[in-house]
Amino acid sequence: MKKKVRITDTTLRDAHQSLWATRMRTEDMLPIVDKMDRVGYNAMEVWGGATFDVCMRYLQEDPWERLRLLNSYIQNTPLQMLLRGQNLVGYKHYPDDVARRFVYKAAENGIDIFRIFDALNDVRNMNTAIEAVKETGKEVQATVAYTISPVHTIEHYLETAITLQELGADSLCIKDMAGLLTPYRAYDLVSALKEKITIPIELHSHYIGGMALPTYLKGIEAGLDIIDTATASLAFGSSQPPVETMTAILRDTEYDADLNLDLLFEIDSYFERVRRKRGFPRGVTRITDMQTFSHQVPGGMISNLVSQLEKQDALDRIHDVLKEIPRVREDLGFPPLVTPTSQIVGTQAVFNILLGERYKVIPDEVKSYIKGYYGRPPAQINPEVRKKAIGDEEPITCRPADLLEPMLDNIKDEVSRYAEKEEDYLSYALFPQIGLKFLKERKKDKDIFGETNTNINEEADEDMELKDIKELLEMLNETDIAEINLESDGTKISIKKGGSVVAQEVTTATNIPTPEVAEVSQEKTTNATPAPSEAKKEVVSGEKVEAPMVGTFYCAPSPDSDPFVKVGDIIEAGESLCIIEAMKLMNEIEAEFKCKILDILVEDGEAIEYGQPLFVVERV
Ligand code: CO
Repeated sequence: MKKKVRITDTTLRDAHQSLWATRMRTEDMLPIVDKMDRVGYNAMEVWGGATFDVCMRYLQEDPWERLRLLNSYIQNTPLQMLLRGQNLVGYKHYPDDVARRFVYKAAENGIDIFRIFDALNDVRNMNTAIEAVKETGKEVQATVAYTISPVHTIEHYLETAITLQELGADSLCIKDMAGLLTPYRAYDLVSALKEKITIPIELHSHYIGGMALPTYLKGIEAGLDIIDTATASLAFGSSQPPVETMTAILRDTEYDADLNLDLLFEIDSYFERVRRKRGFPRGVTRITDMQTFSHQVPGGMISNLVSQLEKQDALDRIHDVLKEIPRVREDLGFPPLVTPTSQIVGTQAVFNILLGERYKVIPDEVKSYIKGYYGRPPAQINPEVRKKAIGDEEPITCRPADLLEPMLDNIKDEVSRYAEKEEDYLSYALFPQIGLKFLKERKKDKDIFGETNTNINEEADEDMELKDIKELLEMLNETDIAEINLESDGTKISIKKGGSVVAQEVTTATNIPTPEVAEVSQEKTTNATPAPSEAKKEVVSGEKVEAPMVGTFYCAPSPDSDPFVKVGDIIEAGESLCIIEAMKLMNEIEAEFKCKILDILVEDGEAIEYGQPLFVVERV
């Protein structure tokens, strides 16, 4: 009998999360989804993971609106999301009431398959999500995160899978986020699972060093039902293997996926155009990626480490950091490296290397992990490290979310002014700062531009003409609003009442170049303002030092040392002012000119937004 393999497409979620720092916009997706819907995919993964956060944080897009739009265009193919167990689409545990409502709303807005995982394979952290999805009647795809360690044996995966099937999972995903599953191991693992469980098995791997293609093939020979791929221009490197190659490999065999290669090529050429237009990189494999076979660091984590170390001029430490990661991982009981444990282990490894002494500084996340607030570590934690981190305190043994109070009833007042729908309360519950900022800006845009023009920020990138800016200025003069800020990937444009227009290049937390966009906006605003250089100078020579990135503010190099500066100090250009920890790495912020510190506007350890004033200074 023919055993057709089914293929799930990850282009609209994991692929651009892995390669483009999750920056694909809804407007880039909509023109092609009709074609993708005709391919005959098992499912399209389009939501969840980092997309939710990034939509609000960087794209000024409502993630719920994206889902609704995709659902209205995609008629035949089930929509899938990645749900991080009790972490949902965030980085910490949320109370059960938030988890339930989130799942209900995701189902209502179009999600058919919920791929649920927990970073530690701690089934207790998946329980509520599984129950909630069951209540909606949608598909529960329970997940085991694959990693290599003395405790991650085939028996461990079998036991976990059996438990998940008993809890009601409709299918099982083996999530090989670091591309570590070897072809022969996949054969053994899938064969063993097939003997013990009856639900379909899907393999999700990342290309990274190139192993995923043969791994898929051996898995298929052992009885795998579904594999995950992406369109070629968003495949390879730290993303999924290409659908075109897998389709060709399986063609005319008993496993033939029966996809139309020519249609796949048309889809790919569309995404290749998007890639060029936006200036996004291709997936490539470097030697550091192959070293994943020894350091086991997942792709997304490597690109974050690389881009952040680059910014700090410390890229030469990447090899040390990659060597340190397995040591930290062993100390912490061999957690699989996936969000959020990848950040926990990665942060500690970076601290250990950059500070020149292991565990000199132990971040709060690491302490919480050791205290059991992320769940049960797969193996025992190194007692010395535990002692250093939490002293004699006993870790918790219950399910972490059991300690959390319900939340939804208590936040209504805080956002009701800005919320338009129940989903907005969830966005706020998940990301209080980012969510509130997003909701406020959306309201501001609507107050100025009306309901239909919510995407004004995107239009500012490419379509803003001289007359548009003039119109905006005129409108502004008729309202109470003093200033409009239009922010895009590379440029911030401030239009102030009275006529000044300032274009300022910004540094975002990622490394994605958007040269075309930045140039266009700069040039247009230059044309639009009578004295752009003056206006720009006003910003540069202003008396406030603003945060160049989103992150956490630290006034000292480490908790037990003196602050870099205090009020009244005079410091030279190039001297350090503070540290901003962004994407879990520390960035030292230097003074651009010699100045006297008049005021420090933020507290040590405070979360800061891009552009937030940090210091008041006076040039000397
Ligand atoms: Co993935």
